[in-house]
Amino acid sequence: MNQLPRIVVLATGGTIAGASGNPASSAHYQAATVPVSSLLAAVPALKSVARIEAEQVAQVDSKDMTFALWAALAARVEHWSAQADVAGIVITHGTDTLEETAMALHLTQACPVPVVMTAAMRPSTSLSADGPLNLLDAVRVAAHPDACGKGVLVVLNQQIHAARDVAKAHTSAVDAFVSQCGPLGMVQDDYVRFARTPRQAWAIGPMPRAWPVVEIVASYAQPGRIAVDALVQAGVAGLVVAAAGNGSIHEVLAEALVDAAIAGVAVVRSSRTGAGHVAIPAHPSPSDGVFVSAADLNPYKARVLLALALAADPALARDPLRLQAAFAQA
Ligand code: SIN
Repeated sequence: MNQLPRIVVLATGGTIAGASGNPASSAHYQAATVPVSSLLAAVPALKSVARIEAEQVAQVDSKDMTFALWAALAARVEHWSAQADVAGIVITHGTDTLEETAMALHLTQACPVPVVMTAAMRPSTSLSADGPLNLLDAVRVAAHPDACGKGVLVVLNQQIHAARDVAKAHTSAVDAFVSQCGPLGMVQDDYVRFARTPRQAWAIGPMPRAWPVVEIVASYAQPGRIAVDALVQAGVAGLVVAAAGNGSIHEVLAEALVDAAIAGVAVVRSSRTGAGHVAIPAHPSPSDGVFVSAADLNPYKARVLLALALAADPALARDPLRLQAAFAQA
């Protein structure tokens, strides 16, 4: 008789592990309190899909995510994916910063087996909690042969998303996660279907031991230059601008950013709109105000990429052509 696939669940906290004394409330609860053993016990159907092993890597509200936790998570992903009989890995996470952790793993993990992140918008004690089905679906996808070679995946609300593309786009709806070009596929009961393959994962390198400081600033009506000047003074290595529209930056902020670039800070333009590409310049020249484009990455994902790129090669801060290539490739 064929054995069920062995799937490892790495738990980090979030609302999927949240609890409230009032099941009728989905807004007032404590995130990251329920241990992974209880989350698994609440989904008996898991036993017919996989042999599950679980590790409580952390128990945090993902708003408090740290680089140290990313490193710990990456180390556990690498450990388990190197075991010959592990068929896939599932990571439970908070929804608030899932898109950033997903991006960091996407850029650093080779993924010899499927790595599937999942989460929930409602706490585990809520009426109509979405966590149990999301967890079951994530295990179904991680155990599915078609999930191999697709990089880090994100499964929620019966949809399969690419880690690079997915973002949280609603404060409370169970269909809060969207990818600009739509999901990669869907999962319904035992039926897992990929409609397309994700953009090829581009591994920048391992999680860095030391992260360069990269911050986000925004363009809006009547901005000052105080924040940019203070960040440059503080020694920031990179700045991502949440620019208006197709990467437009207020002239006051743009002036401050040109000075930042001349001082050796990497400057990348993203859009605050939440969708679309920021046009890629043929000849980025930040000291002349032609900043590197983040393409279709939102500011939070662009920050992860910029930090990882600068960690791997600090010289990129003064090489906008190569930095632009990194953004075009990721
Ligand atoms: C969190 O991100 O940890 C809390 C919110 C959530 O998971 O929905």
